[in-house]
Amino acid sequence: MCGIIGYIGSKPATPFLMEGLRRMEYRGYDSAGIAILDGATLVTRRAAGKIAKLEASLAAAPVAGHVGIGHTRWATHGPPTERNAHPHLSADDTVAVVHNGIIENANALRTALQDTGYVFRSDTDTEVVAHLVQELFDGSLEEAVIMALRKIEGTYGLAVVSSRDPGKIVVARKGSPLLIGIGEHEHFVASDASAILAHTRQVVYLDDGDVAVLEADGYRVLDIDALPLTRKVDKIDWELGAIERGGFAHFMLKEIFEQPQTVENTMRGRLIVEDGTSKLGGINLTHDQLMAIDNIIITACGTSWHSALIGEMMIEELCRIPVEVEYASEFRYRNPIVTDRTLCIVISQSGETADTLAAMREAKRRGARTLGLVNVVGSTIAREDDGGIYLHAGPEIGVASTKAFTSQVVALALFTLKLARKRGLSVTRGMEFAQALAALPAQIQQVLDRAEQVEHIAAEFKRAPNFLYLGRGVNFPVALEGALKLKEISYIHAEGYPAAEMKHGPIALIDEMMPVVFVAPHDAVFDKVVSNVQEVKARKGNIIAITSRDEPALQGLVDYEFRIPETVDLLTPILASVPLQLLAYYIAVQRGANVDQPRNLAKSVTVE
Ligand code: G6P
Repeated sequence: MCGIIGYIGSKPATPFLMEGLRRMEYRGYDSAGIAILDGATLVTRRAAGKIAKLEASLAAAPVAGHVGIGHTRWATHGPPTERNAHPHLSADDTVAVVHNGIIENANALRTALQDTGYVFRSDTDTEVVAHLVQELFDGSLEEAVIMALRKIEGTYGLAVVSSRDPGKIVVARKGSPLLIGIGEHEHFVASDASAILAHTRQVVYLDDGDVAVLEADGYRVLDIDALPLTRKVDKIDWELGAIERGGFAHFMLKEIFEQPQTVENTMRGRLIVEDGTSKLGGINLTHDQLMAIDNIIITACGTSWHSALIGEMMIEELCRIPVEVEYASEFRYRNPIVTDRTLCIVISQSGETADTLAAMREAKRRGARTLGLVNVVGSTIAREDDGGIYLHAGPEIGVASTKAFTSQVVALALFTLKLARKRGLSVTRGMEFAQALAALPAQIQQVLDRAEQVEHIAAEFKRAPNFLYLGRGVNFPVALEGALKLKEISYIHAEGYPAAEMKHGPIALIDEMMPVVFVAPHDAVFDKVVSNVQEVKARKGNIIAITSRDEPALQGLVDYEFRIPETVDLLTPILASVPLQLLAYYIAVQRGANVDQPRNLAKSVTVE
């Protein structure tokens, strides 16, 4: 979603701002802009649409200056036009503001400001901040911002500059992430570490309620009463290469191909094959607490919700503890049954999804312990959970989640293994599961080595208007995830369904035009799936099957087949999801879609 970047130092600000905006493009946006202090004048450039348009406007009329802020906007209040693009200026053009989040009392503030003569130039909630800061300014930008914040209700990551106090950027965080980057005689602010990684690895993650003043030679963090705070300096430990395409046509393809390593990284130092268990340093759950768990709730959104469904089956099967999976957006608004013996597992690649964060806070409020499965280090969920398992999948840039998904399932498998061994799973069964986990990286590589086969299947079906994905048991969530990947990036309508449930509705859709993807590895429900394949064939559907061995029962029924290696039933989703990622990818590419930045989608949905 929206992205914030700011630079203050001795060098021209524009290249830093534009590079930062480019690096945040993956998050999803529909307009962009910058504001730069050129001497005593504040100059803004904004454009609807892609950053290339903003670059063209800057090339035609460059802006000089060493202090500036920039923004990519994903429209919420008002359409994605130039007039609604950030930065927004105060009425007297002395204050510029970029903002992520939502100001809930914007209407009331707007009316009050209009009554005192302020004229608004956009439909956004953000513009009130610019006018408020102008109104309250009395010599110090940070004091004016702090006074303005006291009047604001809602969430924000904010960066503000003013020509009346030009040597600083004032930033503030409440509910929307911000970090400060520390350079040599220069400082950065960003909502996403990838925006500044090329220039510094030293960062300070701000907490909710923090205000910070950035100058070329230093920074100060303050609380809402302007009292100084100390915040620790962290080091970003990934390389620049992790956020670059490195020879691949798209980030999504790169991330699909990284999965042998990312799955390995999720397990590194954690899987203990010889004892048939796992070691998870960050879960902060004692033996007694693990033994006391009565029920587990897993909450998440999107792809992370699909991994939660797989987690449910793993935990129930091996730990015999009841598990419920809840969409985070639903969980937070109902009256869930949570006790102090409930463990709430929260899954989020970004660690910033607004609904997932709110669901975690709600579970905590009701007395549950929370365990975060998060990829982005230092993100809000990772900082607020009671314990966690970092995925260590590295930055995921493609909007359609791939490597984070397989790492989530692996992290769930590691947790299941640990809990199951505590709760009575035999060492022999634990070892069998652990060995199967250890074999996964090489098996994923075997799938990737045959990516071309999937590319051929994609060519056959790239014009299909609809797709059906069917699976049973632990592979039903894989069918859901396969369908989600396809619709996200190719815009083909696709549905995932439990294979047998298909008879109760979707079967009406099947004819010779309908491709049906069966996730059918040789597991406990394979024979049942064969019956469903026959039902589709009888109605002339085109069948693509993901199988794991030569299956005589499927002969003559299947039009296209892709073979994955065999593993234990509960881990088949990891191997079966990889060809489905590839299928969605190749179909989208062959249809000419923008794979890494699909329309309307955001990488991290930070609004409700
Ligand atoms: C957005 C993304 C999805 C992602 C979902 C949850 O909708 O487009 O790819 O699965 O958010 O994101 P999270 O970061 O919480 O896993």
